Amino acid sequence: MAKIDLKTIKNKAGKEIKKSQTLKELDRVFKRYLGKKGDLSWILRSLNKMPKTKRIKMGKKANQLKEFLEEAIAKKSGEIRKKTKKSSEGREWFDITIPGKKPVSGHLHPLTQAKKKAEEIFQSMGFSIAEGPELESEWYNFDALNFPSEHPAREMQDTLFIKQKNRERLPSTAKLLMRTHTSPVQVRYIKENQPPLRIIIPGRVFRHEATDVSHEINFYHVEGLMVDKKISVANFKAIIKEFLKRFFEKELKIRLRPSYFPFTEPSFEIDFSCPMCRGKGCSICKKRGWLEIMGAGMVHPNVFKNAGLNPKNWQGFAFGVGLDRLTMMKYKISDIRLFYGGDLRFLIQF
Ligand code: DAH
Repeated sequence: MAKIDLKTIKNKAGKEIKKSQTLKELDRVFKRYLGKKGDLSWILRSLNKMPKTKRIKMGKKANQLKEFLEEAIAKKSGEIRKKTKKSSEGREWFDITIPGKKPVSGHLHPLTQAKKKAEEIFQSMGFSIAEGPELESEWYNFDALNFPSEHPAREMQDTLFIKQKNRERLPSTAKLLMRTHTSPVQVRYIKENQPPLRIIIPGRVFRHEATDVSHEINFYHVEGLMVDKKISVANFKAIIKEFLKRFFEKELKIRLRPSYFPFTEPSFEIDFSCPMCRGKGCSICKKRGWLEIMGAGMVHPNVFKNAGLNPKNWQGFAFGVGLDRLTMMKYKISDIRLFYGGDLRFLIQF
């Protein structure tokens, strides 16, 4: 009986040890056979009731089995421990005492920041933001703004024309180009909105240019327009001085020089005292103390006519400023191409 029992214990326990997946299961197997009330322990305890010869034989075998099972259990226990350690390494583990990692977040492009700043300043002075298409008709870009057809004035701006079938035969309202300034939105806006009005038109413009430190094939303009019954150059000066002061965050002097634009009469160029040297003369302003910043003038009567207004009833000023140029001056950036290169080493500085 006992012989069979030892064999049965060996087989059953062996299988159960093999099957065990966890230390708990293995512990149950240990208890079932080697624990105080375990099967093998019971046999070992009952040895002394046996006759001597049987006792010696059985005792030896039972002790061998005990050793065998103990070894098997120890081996299996090692295997289970190894496995659970490995799988817990794969699992995510949190140390709640470690300071959190800052998520990498982007920010607005310096030109977008400058555009927002310009919008905020003009909006605080009662201006609305207007928009227009980048793909524009020749009529809005030139004709409506009093650029005579075939007049050299059109060559003031190097234009990217769009290829079209039988283009020469199309009327200028159907001829397409990439807008060279946001000034065409003046006419678009007045057609839809009765004065008095104050708007700025920020937007992307395009030129057929060879690129260099101060030229790009696309850049940003902010056009401004104010129309009312009685508007003078004095109104323009006040508005633009306030804008420049708040944009550059310092008091700057401005001066107006006579100039020419087809859509304004009189026209002028605006210089402001160099923000780097405050007018003393430096390499940025080429020792002049002044920097040319924008074009402006009083809206030409023909522009009012093209927009459907009677020029006898209305007056207005308009101006156009390069946002890239303003931003370059504000942050002392020496190359316009940096804005469009997508180089993070440059962009993260803003
Ligand atoms: N559109 C001009 C340019 O592209 C800038 C400009 C000059 C706009 C005078 C104006 C203006 O409205 O009055 O250079």
